[in-house]
Amino acid sequence: MSAVIFHVLTLFPEMVIQGLSPSVIGRAWEKKVISLDAVDIRDYTTDRHRKVDDYPYGGGAGMLMQAQPVYDAHRAVTGGKKIRTIYVTPQGTPFTQAKAQELAAEDELVFLCGHYEGIDERVLEEIVTDYISIGDYVLTGGELPAMVMIDAIARLIPGVLGNDFSAEEESFYNDLLEYPQYSRPEEWHGKKVPQVLLSGNHQKVTQWRLEQARQRTAERRPDLYEKYQEKQLLIRKLARHKRNNIHLVESLTRGCAEVLYSDIMLAGHSAEEHTAAEIYSAEGKRIAAESVLLYDRSCKTCMALAADMASGEAIAERLPADTELIIVSEPYLKELLKQRGYKVLGSYIQVLYTRKEALPVKHREICRLTMEHYPYVCRWYCNDGKCGPGIDDAYVRERIQAGAMYGAFIEGSQVGFVGIHSEGSLGMLFVEESFRGQGIASSLEAYAVNRMLEKGWTPYGHISAGNTASVKLQEKLGFYRAEKNYWWLEKTLANSTLIC
Ligand code: ADE
Repeated sequence: MSAVIFHVLTLFPEMVIQGLSPSVIGRAWEKKVISLDAVDIRDYTTDRHRKVDDYPYGGGAGMLMQAQPVYDAHRAVTGGKKIRTIYVTPQGTPFTQAKAQELAAEDELVFLCGHYEGIDERVLEEIVTDYISIGDYVLTGGELPAMVMIDAIARLIPGVLGNDFSAEEESFYNDLLEYPQYSRPEEWHGKKVPQVLLSGNHQKVTQWRLEQARQRTAERRPDLYEKYQEKQLLIRKLARHKRNNIHLVESLTRGCAEVLYSDIMLAGHSAEEHTAAEIYSAEGKRIAAESVLLYDRSCKTCMALAADMASGEAIAERLPADTELIIVSEPYLKELLKQRGYKVLGSYIQVLYTRKEALPVKHREICRLTMEHYPYVCRWYCNDGKCGPGIDDAYVRERIQAGAMYGAFIEGSQVGFVGIHSEGSLGMLFVEESFRGQGIASSLEAYAVNRMLEKGWTPYGHISAGNTASVKLQEKLGFYRAEKNYWWLEKTLANSTLIC
């Protein structure tokens, strides 16, 4: 995977370069995690005096940017390739964190910055794919909005903010605003730092912060708070069957997924009012269930739960066109998706770790992987026919850059690894054959579990059905098994085979 490229078509390229270079974004550019390319539209005018604007037909105040230089600048950047092109304009749809996440999944983006009274409509019709505004106010040009958007998008790209899942934890990720923060000194202008923050009790600190975030959001952003409450209702409902629904619950609580369909929300019922439909587990047990479709834009993964055939149909209708992977747990939903052109990649057993206490890690030499370890992981994980669904070199690189992979070493030499998949499950466990039987695999698992616990997550994993050794290992560590089977499906016929 090469660096994500941001092209900016502008009359002030130096403003964009100078504005973004000194920041975290500039460092990511130096590290080649992203690439920034500011193109001077004026370089593409055919006018002798380098003019790019003219009077609007029909009269009116001010000048308009002409179609030709904008079109030619765009052509020079794209070479005729279809690249998502954003016209930053107060007439666009509002820019949001969700939009930033969506755009962060692209390999290349073009930002078109207007000036004067706007741009000739005809060129916009030909090149623009998205019209986006950063707010209901009018600025003198599109450079600042483009920079705002690039900053918000780039920080979501793995490797830009360092490698500690940093972007996955703050404001908006759980639909709440950030809690208040304090630094030294303990007392300033007669105001003391809240006692709980000095207590050293992490659980209490977390609770206090959550409560503060709730209060702050309710006061400052009642619109967001309403959405938060709605999502909490759905989480509580799904969590009644935690073993079976942990993947859904975690995607929602970690703030990774948006809800594309939910009968609870659709019906506007409270959790208590809602009568759950009933479905059957793999062993024929009755399980109350509801229907829901979640979508994690960052990895183009859907997770669905369908209480009946009708909801299955409703879910299938709502799958986003760019979905790469769908995880389902009802045989009829799997069959329905197969009829609609999806292919089953594998059948899985879901396991989850519900205890809060950290696991002992016996093997001492374990650490987070960096790109230095990328060839090792690829060698063992991608090139020996053991690649999992959607797993290739680019995926491994992305996971390492996201800080989501850990390695085991013996006297400095790597002997294995484990990782957290982009949709949130624990997996990718590997230990070289000659080093097996020494507890390295369970240490790697325990290490990853502990990192997930530190984040307040409930660790869960999907184990290939039939991999009894792995199920045994998870059970030994204290994982529980879900009652249902899970299927992973993909739309296209990719050449992936299954991992254990
Ligand atoms: N150009 C001028 N004002 C703007 C705004 N508010 N958002 C996006 N682009 C703009």
